[in-house]
Amino acid sequence: MAPASKDSLTVVDNRNGKTYEIPIAVTAHDASVPASAFKDIIHVKEDPRTGNKEKVGLRVVDRGFLNTAVIQSYITFIDGDRGILRYRGYPIEQLAEQSNFLETSYLLIWGELPSKSQYDRFHDEVMNHSTTHVDIEHVFKSFRYDAHPMSILTSVFAALGSYYPEANPSLQGQNLFTKKDLASVQNMDKQIYRLIGKAPTLAAMAYRVRQGRHFITPPPGLSYTGAFLYQMDCLGQAEYKPNPVLERALDILFILHADHEMNASTTTVLQAGSSLTDPYSAIATGCASLYGPLHGGANEAVIRMLISIGSPDNVPAFLEQVKRREKLLSGFGHRVYKTTDPRSRIIRRTADEVFKVTGKDPLIETAMRLHDMALKDEYFVKRNLYPNVDFCGLIYKAMGFPLDFFPVLFAVPRVVGWIAHWRQMMLSPDGVKIWRPRQIYIGPEERAYEPIGQRQEREQRAPTDGPTAVFHSGQSKRSKLATFVGKSKL
Ligand code: CMC
Repeated sequence: MAPASKDSLTVVDNRNGKTYEIPIAVTAHDASVPASAFKDIIHVKEDPRTGNKEKVGLRVVDRGFLNTAVIQSYITFIDGDRGILRYRGYPIEQLAEQSNFLETSYLLIWGELPSKSQYDRFHDEVMNHSTTHVDIEHVFKSFRYDAHPMSILTSVFAALGSYYPEANPSLQGQNLFTKKDLASVQNMDKQIYRLIGKAPTLAAMAYRVRQGRHFITPPPGLSYTGAFLYQMDCLGQAEYKPNPVLERALDILFILHADHEMNASTTTVLQAGSSLTDPYSAIATGCASLYGPLHGGANEAVIRMLISIGSPDNVPAFLEQVKRREKLLSGFGHRVYKTTDPRSRIIRRTADEVFKVTGKDPLIETAMRLHDMALKDEYFVKRNLYPNVDFCGLIYKAMGFPLDFFPVLFAVPRVVGWIAHWRQMMLSPDGVKIWRPRQIYIGPEERAYEPIGQRQEREQRAPTDGPTAVFHSGQSKRSKLATFVGKSKL
């Protein structure tokens, strides 16, 4: 056998002594092997009933994508061991200090910091695309008064797509965004301006509809985050201007939240985008994924956790519950960072500035006690659990946003990261490949259907063994006692 090349693995199948050479691809920061190479390693499976044999390739198992790279990307670099985060090569600390959210958005999407004229044009395009079709207002008004704003935002992004048939590959042809000619790229850029421009408008509308306020558009001349605050808060006062400290703090938080490479929601957007769905539907899936308490919903969960703990004196007992796995310490831990999340340092500095204007929230004492105790506790130290970006919930609370609005404040800037990745995927030199993972089937073998009358009653041993009987909250005592045709047996 020819000697294996240096950048390769030699894999020996100990069942039959066969060897396989699997290439290792080396880039500046990573080395990887193609999972599909393992398909060449054959397993012979036998049907237990017929004895028939069939050859199948080895599958690579990676529950929760712990070690699977699904894209090659130019956008964001994270070194989780050293606590480094860079957008297109620029350290997050420099961007948070010197850039603004729209400039950072330009950088993330198009790869370079804009010149003054490029920035001005982009700024105008985004701000000019911030209004919505008047009919969208009906969508907001169709929600219950207490609907979670993430439910609203998710639905409205999906609905928005129906206003732009020219942006829908199902209607215009599947290569709508993958052609790379001028018209196709212009069409893509227009959707990018629209999505970034409308994100804060839709978020502000989700806020106002629950307050019973009219929707408004801001006057020209405000920054992206200034216009967002105006759209949320202005009640018709003349020359209303958001507080500049809060406006800048929100802008910094938007920069920190703009992208974070293959997090759950970006992966979801790319998963949806890989079937060539329209960008509005893809962004809606990102919102749905971000909403969960293990991801963008964690900033809301942090405050609910702090409220439930209450006094700093209760922190030790709470941490004992966490260690007994009865509770989760929201705002701690990260799949990639095994040291302090670099964003959390910037958040602490930003919090200091905000608290000077808003005053300190009483929960800050509880949060600090939790922070200090967890960082010294062996349970958290051993597992490399450090504060993550979601402690920014304390800033949002100090700024007076409702708790359930916190994930929205994460989603609005993350629209930019989702779009940057979606665009990169659409313009990939290798074309778009649909994301279709495999599974390891461990269910029943083939069995014959039995008509319902011939089936045995089966005892349900565990609640998860089948559907459970549920409480019907819609039934009042009176309707339970009433008689009517077709009365439910439950
Ligand atoms: N509290 C208590 N224990 C934890 C926590 C936590 N917050 N996070 C991880 N652990 C433990 C976990 O139980 C496990 O212990 P063991 O090895 O003994 O079973 C160990 O640490 C490793 O954790 P994991 O669950 O395997 O890690 P993961 O990479 O699958 O999950 C995470 C990462 C972020 C989902 C998790 O740390 C977590 O649930 N954190 C709390 C929720 C949160 O703050 N999410 C926001 C993440 S950052 C921003 C974002 O993505 O939106």
